Amino acid sequence: MRIGVLTGGGDCPGLNAVIRAVVRKGTEVYGHEFVGFRDGWKGPLEGVTMELGVPQVRGILPRGGTILGSSRTNPIKIDGGVEKIQANLSSLGVDALIAIGGEDTLGVATALAAAGVNVVGVPKTIDNDLNATDYTFGFDTAVQIAVDAIDRLHTTAESHHRALIVEVMGRHAGWIALHSGLAGGANVILIPERPFDIDKVCEYVKARFERHYAPIIVVAEGAQPAVGTMELRTGELDAFGHVRLGGIGQVLEREIEARTGYESRQTVLGHVQRGGTPTAYDRVLATRFGLHAIDAVHEGDSGVMVALRGTDIVRVPLEAATKELKTVPLERYEEAEVFFG
Ligand code: F6P
Repeated sequence: MRIGVLTGGGDCPGLNAVIRAVVRKGTEVYGHEFVGFRDGWKGPLEGVTMELGVPQVRGILPRGGTILGSSRTNPIKIDGGVEKIQANLSSLGVDALIAIGGEDTLGVATALAAAGVNVVGVPKTIDNDLNATDYTFGFDTAVQIAVDAIDRLHTTAESHHRALIVEVMGRHAGWIALHSGLAGGANVILIPERPFDIDKVCEYVKARFERHYAPIIVVAEGAQPAVGTMELRTGELDAFGHVRLGGIGQVLEREIEARTGYESRQTVLGHVQRGGTPTAYDRVLATRFGLHAIDAVHEGDSGVMVALRGTDIVRVPLEAATKELKTVPLERYEEAEVFFG
């Protein structure tokens, strides 16, 4: 078989570990050939490929990013996009695709599978917001990066008696904020799933200062104030219609300082959370996803995604992963509230 591999959407530590596992097992155990598609769906759409074999995947296990490149190209939005992909796959002699991505990339994979393309999905996102899998690789690394930052911010916050706000990624789901805030001993955690009341946040901040500690506020980029309390900036849209976020940390810095009188500073972790080497947990999860994805392709399965259930890797229909996001259940958030203030 000749199998195409692509990585789409925001990059994520562990992508290379998936590619390596797919290619190593696919070549050495099954004797398949591979074609690397460049830059997400742009590759199959425009027929942009690279050589992908065992030599290309040597040494990439601990490397962040993706050797294939990534983009947020959405072929469904392009006239005749699906047909162009089908034509390119056929002229390149590609029998099946392994698409490694988040909700958007796998949404396209779902549409292609419905159109008759053989495709197996691998879930990826630092946001951990894909349904039908307990965890996505990249999440553990992102949380660790955020916790390292929070640990450092505690000491400078204490020295200057400041409120420090840490803005982390998560446009619709607050998983990174929740886990890094819990692990980092945050004073308050703000997530998109639960609109916040700025007065309550300021009460927590003041309470922490009164006990002679400096508060750390962890906020997901998509966190929203309760209606009518604060103005937020809106940004431009990407090809999948998502607003480019960022700015909630700045708003909180201004509001907390004005309302409490305590000096406040924000730190936006941004793309640092997506860069660099994956944790051991993410390397293992990504590797196991890759091994199971190539098994699925080899067995002729299509329209499925590999997923983590407990400690097992299973296959689920692609639609199960993409029809809705896995957001933080309110009871999980409430567990963390014990430590607020
Ligand atoms: O999809 C993961 C993610 O990290 C989101 O949390 C974030 O909003 C987005 O990517 C930003 O990505 P980019 O700046 O690459 O568009």
